[in-house]
Amino acid sequence: MSAGESRDPPVLEARDLRRTYAVKRGFFGGSATVKALAGVSFTLAAGETLAVVGESGSGKSTLSRLVTLIEAPTGGTLRIEGADVADADAAQRRKLRREVQMVFQNPYGSLNPRQTIAAALEEPLIVSTDTPRAERREAVRTAMARVGLRPEFAARYPHMFSGGQRQRIAIARALMLRPKILVLDEPVAALDVSIRAQVLNLLADLQDEFGLAYLFVSHDLGVVEHIADRIMVIYLGHAVEIGTREAIFGAPQHPYTRALLSATPSADPAKRKQRIPLVGEPPSPIDPPRGCVFHPRCPQAFDRCRVEEPALERKQGRDVACWAVEG
Ligand SMILES: Nc1ncnc2c1ncn2[C@@H]1O[C@H](COP(=O)(O)OP(=O)(O)OP(=O)(O)O)[C@@H](O)[C@H]1O
Ligand code: SF4
Ligand SMILES: [Mg+2]
Repeated sequence: MSAGESRDPPVLEARDLRRTYAVKRGFFGGSATVKALAGVSFTLAAGETLAVVGESGSGKSTLSRLVTLIEAPTGGTLRIEGADVADADAAQRRKLRREVQMVFQNPYGSLNPRQTIAAALEEPLIVSTDTPRAERREAVRTAMARVGLRPEFAARYPHMFSGGQRQRIAIARALMLRPKILVLDEPVAALDVSIRAQVLNLLADLQDEFGLAYLFVSHDLGVVEHIADRIMVIYLGHAVEIGTREAIFGAPQHPYTRALLSATPSADPAKRKQRIPLVGEPPSPIDPPRGCVFHPRCPQAFDRCRVEEPALERKQGRDVACWAVEG
């Protein structure tokens, strides 16, 4: 078993997942290809949280859109509950789409301002099921109670709620179709610190209760250390290190992971590390560097790194793509 794989049978399996975008380049309209996701493999099991971390532009949201079937990959395979999404017919796709739901950083953007909370929660049931009206209403009441919203809030509109309450509404809405997987793209980043812990605790409770699998995108490593079972570090569309929380936080191996972690303050003095600077900006995914994509910023880069791309390999109890890590 590799570190990219969950212990239990996966509800989600990505193999060499890729996504490119054609973009116009320059004033005269030349075209170029953005390699947003350059071949990422991992699995996710019921009840498990896989955190995805990496700088802005590394491909986290692109991965989220592929996994939720909002966009199709341009390469690789995606399986949900064993079914290859590419082979699915329209009816199967609709069913698979229900299994994976998304919670965004800004729930205000995903909630219709002219729709009451009750209507917002009922809508997925109307669109995707033939649940009778009385049962839909009951499901809405149950969902509101489950995420800690009072029944009298049902007739109110999104703007009447605080950020934390709106995120509870977004979570309730995502759960209306009883999905197996939630993709959470920076779900607490916009919330006050005091509210953040409450929403994270709610997510943990819901995960236990429903056996949900979470793909949890976050740039906040403090949050990740708190909630993740495993962590995937991505850089310029490549997974550079995947391992358990203990492996990644206890003994990070990839120079990029080390730099990311060393930039995070730790409350535990024993864990305070020497700061490893991350110099410069990530290169453009239109012209990614040859060899190891991290080499222009890597303090340990040597000749081989500039010509040969390291594959993700099992070393030191995790999967890591780096020539400098001993096997
Ligand atoms: N629709 C698109 N068309 C062109 N390029 C895109 C598109 N979507 C994403 N990209 C590019 O793909 C790369 C990955 O973007 P993505 O949004 O997945 O990064 P991210 O890790 O989510 O970043 P952030 O932390 O800022 O949210 C970026 O270079 C981005 O500019
Ligand atoms: S392969 Fe080379 S450049 Fe890439 S992270 Fe490892 S040491 Fe650095
Ligand atoms: Mg993003």
